[in-house]
Amino acid sequence: MKIIALANQKGGCGKTTTAVNLSYALSLLEKKVLLIDADPQHHTTTALGYTNAKHTLLDLFDRITKNEAFAPKDFMQHRNVFLSVIPSEFELGAIEAELSGNTIALELLERIFIKLAPGEYDYVIIDCPPNLGFLTLNALKNAQMVITPFDAGIFALMGTDNLKKILNMLSDVTQKMPEVRALLTMFDARSNFSRSFLETAKGKFGEKLFASIIRNNAHLRESASCARTIFEHAPKSNGAHDYAQFAAELVNFFERTCDIEFTLNGYAEAREVFVAGDFSDWQLNETMKMTRTDTGWRLSMPLEKGKSYKYKFVIDDFWVADNQNPDFELDSIGFKNSLVNV
Ligand SMILES: Nc1ncnc2c1ncn2[C@@H]1O[C@H](COP(=O)(O)OP(=O)(O)OP(=O)(O)O)[C@@H](O)[C@H]1O
Ligand SMILES: [Mg+2]
Repeated sequence: MKIIALANQKGGCGKTTTAVNLSYALSLLEKKVLLIDADPQHHTTTALGYTNAKHTLLDLFDRITKNEAFAPKDFMQHRNVFLSVIPSEFELGAIEAELSGNTIALELLERIFIKLAPGEYDYVIIDCPPNLGFLTLNALKNAQMVITPFDAGIFALMGTDNLKKILNMLSDVTQKMPEVRALLTMFDARSNFSRSFLETAKGKFGEKLFASIIRNNAHLRESASCARTIFEHAPKSNGAHDYAQFAAELVNFFERTCDIEFTLNGYAEAREVFVAGDFSDWQLNETMKMTRTDTGWRLSMPLEKGKSYKYKFVIDDFWVADNQNPDFELDSIGFKNSLVNV
């Protein structure tokens, strides 16, 4: 089961639109999907027409905090055979204050996930609110992947930076770092600004930018307002095409890759450490930055199966091979590159 959070503290950049339509697109690929609306604004719930649902995520959290027995199934709506949804409601926002200081606050989603049977879902998609509060933290803590949608604007990009900072802080506690990928949304191919912004985004995210791009498409707006996904509302639209393509890219990504853990012991005094390799054209960007641990540094990175990669650590601008890895080859000037076979 892959848990994917849609997060960016910038509002209105396409988190909900992506959560709803990506989930439906995955269900069309016959993937078993659980979509969780973790936003008190409950836009996912509204966009799917579940505002009158008898049970919501809030009721589920209530059961957990009262230590009462529950079955996640009782809180779900079923869109089709493959897609189930846990809706949300406005009052969900109030429980953050109620749970303040209670350690359970950051364990709520985890308590639900441990109740899901192995193989029950292929993907869990979580729509987060536009802030980095406890609901988003719950999602980030459990996610294998964080998709950060961003539209053409500096604020959405700043949101992705803040998210990365939060993830670094979280990983100090959880000792794990989800894969963070960026998705360009509301793209207007006719605008010079959008096109040059796309180049900026490619430079910033490198490999971590999804190849799929979601174009600006009025049908996406309309479909949400009539409580239907784009596939139910306008299956031939660009919006449906883009989300279907994105779902296929995501599935391909998970089925084609394997998570590789890079670790470097010591260097506690280093300011920053990166992994550089041919998997990222030897570029150093934010997503190649290692996280500090009690014993050194670490970074988990999905790499394509069946391939061999060269890499080095970059410790405060100083490039070194991985001395814990006996596999290496010499480059053209006789320096060691470490090797990893995936
Ligand atoms: N590709 C698109 N083309 C046209 N409109 C879009 C597209 N993606 C999203 N929208 C519209 O933009 C608005 C904001 O999108 P959305 O609600 O998905 O953002 P969000 O990041 O979830 O917002 P919030 O942070 O408030 O939760 C909505 O009205 C939505 O219908
Ligand atoms: Mg939203």
